[in-house]
Amino acid sequence: MKILAIESSCDETSAAVVENGQDVLSNVVSTQIDIHKQFGGVFPEVASRLHVEKINFVIKESLEKADVTFDDIDAIAVTEGPGLVGSLHVGVTAAKSLAWALDKPLIPVHHIAGHIYANKLSGTLDFPLLSLVVSGGHTELIYMESDYHFEIIGKTQDDAVGEAYDKVARLLGLSYPGGPVIDKMAQQGKANYILPKVKTENPLDFSFSGLKSAVRQLTLREERNERPVIVEDVAYAFQHAAVNELVTRVKLALASYDVKTLALAGGVAANSEVRKQMNELKDTYPELNILQPPLWACMDQAAMIGLAAFTAFEKGARATCELTAQSNKQLQSY
Ligand code: KG4
Ligand code: ZN
Repeated sequence: MKILAIESSCDETSAAVVENGQDVLSNVVSTQIDIHKQFGGVFPEVASRLHVEKINFVIKESLEKADVTFDDIDAIAVTEGPGLVGSLHVGVTAAKSLAWALDKPLIPVHHIAGHIYANKLSGTLDFPLLSLVVSGGHTELIYMESDYHFEIIGKTQDDAVGEAYDKVARLLGLSYPGGPVIDKMAQQGKANYILPKVKTENPLDFSFSGLKSAVRQLTLREERNERPVIVEDVAYAFQHAAVNELVTRVKLALASYDVKTLALAGGVAANSEVRKQMNELKDTYPELNILQPPLWACMDQAAMIGLAAFTAFEKGARATCELTAQSNKQLQSY
């Protein structure tokens, strides 16, 4: 079964052809990062317009790269949410038009389901599965007793971890997106500053706004005392505090849930320290199947939507031309 998948939830316009929920025949991504950089973050109205400009070319190229035509496609899949509503709308409209014109089934996919199923590129998803979802819009611990069955057991009470990376980067005068920049700088920094640990009422929940404020306080204090702010060392302190918060929650969840697979998901899954510390869990849990998507698949792209869509389709997920973009779409189990 060949699925043509479309993703346009934020600032990447992407289309992919995925076969049998396993083989990525093509994955074309047109990123808008260089344009949004000048605004210090994603400018929603500009993002929607750029999606409109690119979507047809991206779809066409994804077919060409997979060496298929529309006739070879068995179903169309699309991210229905969550994300920026104007951006999502472009992908949803393209997918609906194609499904209608080609008379093929339309599969709605949740963006986070896509990030989780990107792990199929690295190994088998043995259930029960625990996923640490870390992106610009989400920070969640999701427990999956079986395929396409999602239970959120922990979530952020304020900022998402990727959002915290982006805000701290802005505070330090670094460019957008902040995650990769801070990650790189942290590797050149040392343990010179101490940032506080965060406590949440539900021990599996996360909170990052306090950490962001602590970085602001730290820089203000250094300036007040006429000491230079060593950006690499601030990046080091922030990265270690943020990753420590993530890993502590994962360890807690592993201690109280039956888990066969631990799967890392979302843009922050590209972070070097998160990847390192997740792999180190192998020492304590030698039986655990620890998965992390390849770096290219951590970012927003349509291949992950095609991978998730195959299982969603098997479980009965279908949409009609009534499908609409939903910026706050909740994860739906089948
Ligand atoms: O999943 P994604 O591409 O978009 C959303 O669905 O939000 O994630 C983007 C987020 C951004 O906040 C970006 O700064 C962060 O992922 N990110 C990273 C790294 N690479 C991307 N954060 C930390 N370390 C990285 N290496
Ligand atoms: Zn994402």
